[in-house]
Amino acid sequence: MSTRPRTPGHGAPAPGKLPITELLEMKGSHSPIAMITAYDAPSGRLADAAGVDMILVGDSAAMTVLGHDSTVPATVDEMLVLTRAVRRGATRPLIVADMPFGSFQISDELAVTNAVRFVKEAGADAVKLEGAGLMLDRVRAIVGSGVPVMGHIGLTPQSATALGGFKAQGRTAAKAAELVSDALALEEAGCFSVVLEAVPTPVAARITELLTIPTIGIGAGGDVDGQVLVWHDLLGLYDGHAPRFVKQYAQLAGEIQDAVEHYVADVREHRFPEEVHTYGMPEEELEAFVAEVGEGREVGLQADLGVSGLA
Ligand code: KIV
Repeated sequence: MSTRPRTPGHGAPAPGKLPITELLEMKGSHSPIAMITAYDAPSGRLADAAGVDMILVGDSAAMTVLGHDSTVPATVDEMLVLTRAVRRGATRPLIVADMPFGSFQISDELAVTNAVRFVKEAGADAVKLEGAGLMLDRVRAIVGSGVPVMGHIGLTPQSATALGGFKAQGRTAAKAAELVSDALALEEAGCFSVVLEAVPTPVAARITELLTIPTIGIGAGGDVDGQVLVWHDLLGLYDGHAPRFVKQYAQLAGEIQDAVEHYVADVREHRFPEEVHTYGMPEEELEAFVAEVGEGREVGLQADLGVSGLA
């Protein structure tokens, strides 16, 4: 077990914000941590209202909202816009911004510059970066600058090509042991938490026992300290193939499409807008208007409504 000091943080938490130290208490008391991704203010607001502890502004946004077929094209500027929006919507949950591919691998200096941008320009509470090994120096550098870091090992989508595709990791004894030492090294480097993605349940369970910091699983079974799911997967909003570890709590894509089809049919059949969705004007103004420009096909109806406000 590590005895290193806790992650320093970059300042006092905003009022009402979950203190990062509470995650350790949650691990200690076996109180599961709930995390979800979000990419805009409404989803941030809904996640906050639903009681999540942490929001990850994941680079999965490249696929879920920007239409790419991998997470690799996500840029820092795009992630900053999304993180800022989530920050406007969510108050209590810790907001973790995902550092996109190319934003931290090149040098410690670039990694710190970009991590600091997420905190200063977008209001993130922490950043997440994928990998261990050569990335441990990046973790140390960012933590040293005062920005809390969440690690991410197992299936790391930014390096999916090198890993042989989107598939579970650590399924041999040797690979599982590598994951254990990577997790311990990330804790030692100063991470406040580690995501374990697509890792066999017993491996994730052992890592969780060995680490003092919380593990957050996605496809890592139930013996971890918390869970994270992608917003679009959980809500059934994404039409691509859902990984085995996804549980869909709603099928909103179908509901949204039905609603939009209904709207299109209403427009085409003149059923929308109804009177309740329209504005009128005071009668004397209408009369003056008609005197000036003549009567159009809607003028009689508006006069009958006698509506003048914008409500
Ligand atoms: O980008 C993302 O959404 C993630 C989660 C899958 C952990 O990294």
